[in-house]
Amino acid sequence: MALELTAEDKKLIEEIKNGRTFDKGDDLPPIYRKHLMNLLWMQGDSEYSGALGYMPWIEKAPDVKEKVLVAQIVKDEMRHASVIYKMLKDLGEDTEAHIEKSDLGYKLEDDLAQIGFQRLKEDFRVNIFYYNIKYWTDFILFNFLMDRAAGHQLEDTLHSSYLPWKKGIEGIYKEEVMHLTHGDKWVKILAKDPKDKEFLQERLNLWWPRVMNVFGKSKGGANNIYVQLGLKKRTNEEVRKDFVEDIQKLCDEVGLVIPEWNESEYLQ
Ligand SMILES: [Fe+2]
Ligand SMILES: [Fe+2]
Repeated sequence: MALELTAEDKKLIEEIKNGRTFDKGDDLPPIYRKHLMNLLWMQGDSEYSGALGYMPWIEKAPDVKEKVLVAQIVKDEMRHASVIYKMLKDLGEDTEAHIEKSDLGYKLEDDLAQIGFQRLKEDFRVNIFYYNIKYWTDFILFNFLMDRAAGHQLEDTLHSSYLPWKKGIEGIYKEEVMHLTHGDKWVKILAKDPKDKEFLQERLNLWWPRVMNVFGKSKGGANNIYVQLGLKKRTNEEVRKDFVEDIQKLCDEVGLVIPEWNESEYLQ
C-alpha cells in the first residue's frame, strides 16, 4: 500500500535528508509523529514482554552464576522498556494504562506454532515475543538470534532523527551486545556435545523462521517512509540480509546449519 505524500511531507523528507532532527518538546509533523510512535510502541512492548518471557529463566538457569546473568538480562530488558515508555509518556501517551490493560505476559502454548507476521493481541510487540521459551537451549537461541536481531535494528536508531531516542539507544545497544555475547558463548558450549548440538540444531530450525519474520515484510508497508523520515537507515530486507550474514559466519564456525526460509510461505 503506497502512502500518499503531501507537498508538506515531501518538504519534510527533504529537510530530514539534509540533517533536520527533532528533540523532546518539539512540535512533530503528523506523519513523523505517527511513524515514530509506531516504532516506539513496538520497541517498548517488545522490551517489556521480552523481560517477562526471560523471567522464569532466572530460576531455571543451570547454575547460580547463570541465574545472576539471566537476572541481569531481565533487568536490562525492563530498563529498556522503561526508557522507551518514558519517551512515549513525554509524547503524551498513557503508558501505565496501556500496560495495565494489555496482556504483555501472554505466550503461545503450542511449542511448534509458526504465526508468520500475525499479531495475536492488542499490544505492539514484535511477534517473536508471543512464543514461549521452553528450554534453556531456547533461551540461548533467543540471545543468539533475537538479541542480535534487535542489535541490528537498534544500530539504525543510533543515527535516528529523533534525538531522545538516539540518546536512549546508546546504553540499550551496549546491553544488547552483552546479551548476544551470552548467546554466542553458550552456542559454542552446546555445540561441543553431540547430543546438545543435535537438540540445538532442532531448536534452531524451529526458531529460525520466527526470527527471520521479526524484520517484517520485504515489500510494501512503511519500509521506505521510515527510512525517509530518518527513523531507520535500512529497509527490512537490508537489515535481515546483514543479520543473516552475521549468523552464517557463527553457524559455520560451530557446524550448525541455517534452515531455509521463504518469506512467501508466511505471507497471507
Ligand atoms: Fe532490550
Ligand atoms: Fe536483549
